[in-house]
Amino acid sequence: MATELPALPYAHDALQPHFSAAAVDQHRQHHQALANSLARLAAGTRFEAMALPDIVRQASGTLFNTAAEVWNHDFYWACLRPPADSASPGADSGALAEAIDEAFGSFDGLREQFTGLALSLFGSGWIWLVQRRNGALALVATANAGNPLTGTDTPLLACDVWEHAYGVDHAGRRDRYLEAFWHRVDWPAVAARFE
Ligand SMILES: [Fe+2]
Repeated sequence: MATELPALPYAHDALQPHFSAAAVDQHRQHHQALANSLARLAAGTRFEAMALPDIVRQASGTLFNTAAEVWNHDFYWACLRPPADSASPGADSGALAEAIDEAFGSFDGLREQFTGLALSLFGSGWIWLVQRRNGALALVATANAGNPLTGTDTPLLACDVWEHAYGVDHAGRRDRYLEAFWHRVDWPAVAARFE
C-alpha cells in the first residue's frame, strides 16, 4: 500500500495568515504518520490492495480508525485554498448557494450553525457539510475518526476539530480556529462536489 500522501495543491505557507506554515507542517506530519500506520496494519491482509474508501467502509477497530483518519485528512486538505483573487467564486452564487439558503436560511446561517456544531462537539471529531440522498444539505458531527463514507451522505466540506488541528496556531482555542478555517474554505471545490 502506498504511504505517499496526495500532494497538496498549495505550499505549506500558502494558507497564511489563517494557517501558519508550522501548523500545516505539523498537521501533515500527523497525516503522514497515519498513512504509515495504515500501510503497516493493512500489510498481508485483504485490505492491502483495497482502495482507501473501501477500507473505510469495510474495516473495523484500529484499522477503520486509521484508514478513516487518512481519508478524512486527504479530504480536509482538499477543502482549503490559498487566498483567491477577487474574481474567484465564493459560495454566494449558483446551485450550491440556493441549497444553502434553503437549508440554513443564508450563507451566514450555514456558518453559524457549522461553527455552533463544531464548538459543541465534545472531544475529537469532524464537522461535515453533506448532501443527503434527497439532494438537501445538512450538517453532521462525527466523533473521533467517523465520516460520512459509512453512511449514505455525500461529504462536501470537512473541518477537523481534533485539538492537534488548532494547537499550534490557536493555543487550543477551537473558536478562533473555526474563524480562520472559514476564511480558507475552497468553495469552488465544495460546489464541484454538489450534485
Ligand atoms: Fe487532523
